[in-house]
Amino acid sequence: MDRLSYEEASARYVRLVEAELAAIRRREAGRIHPRLLEAMFYSIEGGGKRIRPCLTLAVCEMLGGSLQNALPIACGLEMIHTYSLIHDDLPCMDDDDMRRGRPSNHKVFGEAEAVLAGDGLLSLAFEVMLRAAAESKDPRILAAAYEAAQRAGAAGMVSGQSADMELEGAVNPTGDMLRYVHRHKTADMLEAAVVAGALTAGADAGVLEKLRRYSAEMGLLFQITDDLLDATGDQELMGKTLGKDAKQGKLTYVTLLGIDGAKREAEAAERRAEEAISGLENADYLLQTVRRMLTRSR
Ligand code: IPE
Ligand code: IPE
Ligand code: MG
Ligand code: MG
Ligand code: MG
Repeated sequence: MDRLSYEEASARYVRLVEAELAAIRRREAGRIHPRLLEAMFYSIEGGGKRIRPCLTLAVCEMLGGSLQNALPIACGLEMIHTYSLIHDDLPCMDDDDMRRGRPSNHKVFGEAEAVLAGDGLLSLAFEVMLRAAAESKDPRILAAAYEAAQRAGAAGMVSGQSADMELEGAVNPTGDMLRYVHRHKTADMLEAAVVAGALTAGADAGVLEKLRRYSAEMGLLFQITDDLLDATGDQELMGKTLGKDAKQGKLTYVTLLGIDGAKREAEAAERRAEEAISGLENADYLLQTVRRMLTRSR
């Protein structure tokens, strides 16, 4: 897959996801309290790269599945991810004023509404995914929703966020602690995106195992590059305030290993991600995704 076709494929997935998210907003208008709906969709419509839903659709398509089956799961994951960003930015967490190129949710709607916008997005995500499973009676969609629940939930992304907060300012941090944080706060949601896409296409156990190994490495790679960009990136392109990790004493690959050490870890994770899916057919989109992550600027 050349550069252009990767971009075209991604743009097509983004269009499908954003159209479906807009349809969800229209469907919910009149049902959800207007201010809450506005706060929820302020963050959803604030842009973002849409990496997770693109991966869900790409993997489903790669394995011959129907995009119609994967779309509610892709949207659910983007809603869960967006809720995690709203809460991550709160003053009691990372205290960030900018997100996706505009003021963070709590800066516009206040802290209480931002908490509720997150609650609303998380629960609406499950409503959307489980409605699709119930209406279609397709066990593959139910399996994908269950995967999302496990990776997003208490033992998944939320545990990573808990450890991230606990380890702020840690005196003797270790590589194991850092791997735990990145594994859960970031890799779990990327694994959910990839594996849920595969489940909607009815992938077999062997393929799922390869994809799980790929996603774990991709998640690590993605968070290391996020840490690198916090230290060295362009604020305009990233759409969020940079330089915050060092200031807040966050445990990151950059704070633990320095810029060069973090870059080496990112390269190693990228190689392992490619290895994990070697032998998988039609995996160009996945290969391009990790290659581009290594040099991303946003
Ligand atoms: C930011 O995720 C949070 C991390 C896990 C590092 P993204 O970089 O995917 O954010 P958006 O969705 O593009 O805004
Ligand atoms: C956030 O990690 C991960 C989640 C929201 C689950 P960061 O705190 O590093 O993300 P940014 O840098 O604020 O986007
Ligand atoms: Mg954080
Ligand atoms: Mg943060
Ligand atoms: Mg960060």
